[in-house]
Amino acid sequence: MKISASTKLVGLIGHPIGHSMSPIIHNALYKRIGLDLIYLAFDIRPENLNNAMIGIKALDLKGFNVTIPHKEAMIGLVDSLDPYAKKLGAINTVKVKDGQLIGYNTDGQGFIKSLKRKNISVKDKSIVIIGAGGAARSIAVYIGLEGPKEIRIVNRTYDRGKVLANLVNDLTGSYIASPASHIPDKSDIIVNTTSLGMWPNIKENPISVLSLSPQTIVCDIVYNPRMTAMLRQAERTGCQIVDGTGMLIGQALASVGIWTGKEVKDEYWQIMQEELDKL
Ligand code: ATR
Repeated sequence: MKISASTKLVGLIGHPIGHSMSPIIHNALYKRIGLDLIYLAFDIRPENLNNAMIGIKALDLKGFNVTIPHKEAMIGLVDSLDPYAKKLGAINTVKVKDGQLIGYNTDGQGFIKSLKRKNISVKDKSIVIIGAGGAARSIAVYIGLEGPKEIRIVNRTYDRGKVLANLVNDLTGSYIASPASHIPDKSDIIVNTTSLGMWPNIKENPISVLSLSPQTIVCDIVYNPRMTAMLRQAERTGCQIVDGTGMLIGQALASVGIWTGKEVKDEYWQIMQEELDKL
C-alpha cells in the first residue's frame, strides 16, 4: 500500500500489546482491498490513557480498538456511547468523528458472526458460557439477543456469574440466563471465555473433567494457540469446534465497518483468515 498525505491512521491501544495479531490482519485487509488506512498497535500504560485520548483527537485518528486493561476505563473517556457498550460497561472499538470519541463493543457481535459463518445458530439452544469477565459479558449478551433456550454461566467466582446472568436477563427482558456451579453434562454449545489454555499455559482445559457428547459444539475465544487443549479434547470426541480466530476476525471486521461506514463484504473474512493461517 502506498502511504500518502491522505492515509489515515487507525490502531489498537492496550498494555501490553506485543502479542496482538490485529495489526497483521487489519493491514493485510487494507492492502488487499485498497483502503487508505494503516493500523498500528500502541502500548499505553493506564496512567497515560487520558493523555493518549488528547493525542488521538489532536492527530485525528479515524478510530481505534481497545484491549486489556483499558476496556472499562474507556467508558469514562468517550464523548458518546453505543447503548450496548454502555450497558456492557466495556468498549473495544472507538470511532473518532468531528473530534468526538464514540464507543462501541463489537466482541459479542464478532463471536455470533463467527458461529453464523459455520452455520451454527444459538436460537433455542442450551448454551454454557465458561467465565464472567469482560469478554463473557459481551458474548453472553449477544447470545441472549439471539433467542437461546437457556444460558448457564459457569465461573470460578460464582457471584460474578450471577451478576452476568442478571445483566443478560435485564438486557433481553427474559429469564434465560442463570449461574451454575459446574458445567452440566448436556448442552448444545459450550463457550470458553476465560484465558485458560492460552499460551504459555497450554495444558489448561476448562472442560477436562467433562464427559462430552459428540453433539456438543465447543467454542474457544483463545486463539494462541489456535488448537487449545479444550478444542483438542472436543475434536477427539467428534464435536464440531470453533476456534478463537473466528471472534478475532469477527470483531475486527465489525470495527472496520464502524470506522469506514462501508459494508463489510464476506470476502474480507477470508483475507484475514488466510493471513492468520500463514502464522
Ligand atoms: P476478560 O476481559 O479477558 O474476559 P477478565 O475480566 O479478567 O478478562 O475475566 C477473566 C475471566 O476468566 C473471569 O471469568 C475469571 O474468573 P473470576 O471471575 O473468578 O476471576 C476467569 N479466569 C481467569 N483465570 C482463571 C482460572 N485460572 N481458572 C478459572 N477461571 C479463570
